[in-house]
Amino acid sequence: MKTIAIINMKGGCAKTTTTINMGYILAKDYDKRVLLIDNDKQGNLSKTCGVWSYDKPSLADVMTGEEKISDIMQKASIMPNIEVIPANMHLLTANLAVIKDDEKEQATIISKELEKVKERFDYCIIDCPPDINISVINALVASDEVIIPVKIDGYAFEGMDELEEQINNAKVLNPKLKLRGCLVTMYYNRDVCMQGKTWLQNQHYPIFKTHIRRTEKADEATFTNESLIEYSPRSGAAKDYKAFVQEYLEK
Ligand SMILES: Nc1ncnc2c1ncn2[C@@H]1O[C@H](COP(=O)(O)OP(=O)(O)OP(=O)(O)O)[C@@H](O)[C@H]1O
Ligand SMILES: [Mg+2]
Repeated sequence: MKTIAIINMKGGCAKTTTTINMGYILAKDYDKRVLLIDNDKQGNLSKTCGVWSYDKPSLADVMTGEEKISDIMQKASIMPNIEVIPANMHLLTANLAVIKDDEKEQATIISKELEKVKERFDYCIIDCPPDINISVINALVASDEVIIPVKIDGYAFEGMDELEEQINNAKVLNPKLKLRGCLVTMYYNRDVCMQGKTWLQNQHYPIFKTHIRRTEKADEATFTNESLIEYSPRSGAAKDYKAFVQEYLEK
């Protein structure tokens, strides 16, 4: 099983959209067994996958050691080949409880749990919040690769240095961790996007050649509990996500 953390400290840059569509394409087009982990108390991934609940066990219970990943995964409504670990607001208190309990190993909770299910899946994709907290550090320690979705605007590159520092910190416990690449999302043909992508290419960060075009269909899809690929297969962004997954698998 390969584990990928989708992460950026900046909000609204298509982390969740990327997680869902990448997972969907790997399951549907490549017949891969996919586990998606919602690591965001907002629960957007869980909602789109039709598994959100305030009462049912979630990642919060995994963090506090009360549940095992293997016991609480749920089938995503969007695709039968996808299982999901949901999240809800309880993740906030669970993370605080983990931080307080310094008797326990705090950063390896998710990696130890994933170790137990690694034969059951080909890919595990972890949708992280726009923040660094203990469950995000757990995601980095549990992952093989990091993908950073980037929406090009005036604030796009804020937090990149801090994120890189967190990735380097996680490498102490998880030396195999690799920054696989930045993925430009919500791209449109204007100077600002072209210049931003060129700027990113000139930094030391790896970057995927494929970018994801901006489409209004992305917002619409959030109302339907569907991936963008299902909701609007002919949209530019749906085609781009397919090209991105192909590039990801070939690279
Ligand atoms: N290619 C796209 N074109 C236009 N809008 C998009 C695109 N991808 C995502 N969006 C929209 O942008 C918003 C943010 O997307 P998403 O929730 O995936 O970002 P996020 O990084 O997970 O946000 P957060 O930091 O809050 O978790 C959503 O309303 C989504 O529908
Ligand atoms: Mg999100």
